[in-house]
Amino acid sequence: MKKEEVENFLRKEMPGDWKKKHITELSMCMPYEAKFYRTPGLTECVHNTFGEIERLFDVIHTENLNDICDPFSGTGTISEYIKEKMSCINIVTNDICDKHGNPDFTENALDNSFYEQFGQPFDAIITSPWFSVLDIAIPIMLKHVKYFIAVHVPAYYITNAHDHRIRYLKRFIKNKQIYIVGNLPHAVIGWRCVWLIIFKDRHIGKMTIKKNLKGIDYFV
Ligand SMILES: C[S@@+](CC[C@H](N)C(=O)[O-])C[C@H]1O[C@@H](n2cnc3c(N)ncnc32)[C@H](O)[C@@H]1O
Repeated sequence: MKKEEVENFLRKEMPGDWKKKHITELSMCMPYEAKFYRTPGLTECVHNTFGEIERLFDVIHTENLNDICDPFSGTGTISEYIKEKMSCINIVTNDICDKHGNPDFTENALDNSFYEQFGQPFDAIITSPWFSVLDIAIPIMLKHVKYFIAVHVPAYYITNAHDHRIRYLKRFIKNKQIYIVGNLPHAVIGWRCVWLIIFKDRHIGKMTIKKNLKGIDYFV
């Protein structure tokens, strides 16, 4: 997505009173920006832990999942977990920086063309993008998935959302398409994070979430 497209995309996907400052902050995190790399060729990457990933798989059925994608794979923790515990699932990894792990692809995951090259949507996208690009990454990934996206987000992404994000999420909430998996072990950086799951429709949500969970997770 080119710089001028970022603003149009945000205004279309999350209509609202976008402040120039916010759009500029998001644009700065696009790969063509000088500040994208910490040092030349090396991005910032805070890895996930198996404990965080386990919480997600505690609550979802995986029988219908054949192809999963992690488009922001970093060190590859999510694919490692899936390969170790569910070897029948095929997982495709991508990270624009290949210095953290060994991704299958090194493309810009904020571009539709990354997803389109596979010819059909992934069953699920499970990933932990940079928090700063979530407002772009979430709508893009939702376009290219068959069942659901599960995104590792800081709790404040939901509890302290700006108005247009609230409106965007409310559409899904109304239709019972959002499920939140909380109580994750602390992320490496010490923040409280949750898995924000957005289903393509409410029936998929109902079928995907295990029954009789005694935890503190919920459809919102
Ligand atoms: C939070 S880290 C991923 C953590 C990963 N789950 C792990 O356990 O290592 C986010 C990753 O997104 C990558 N990234 C940032 N912007 C990207 C983009 N536009 N396209 C693809 N990857 C990107 C970064 O290089 C970084 O490795």
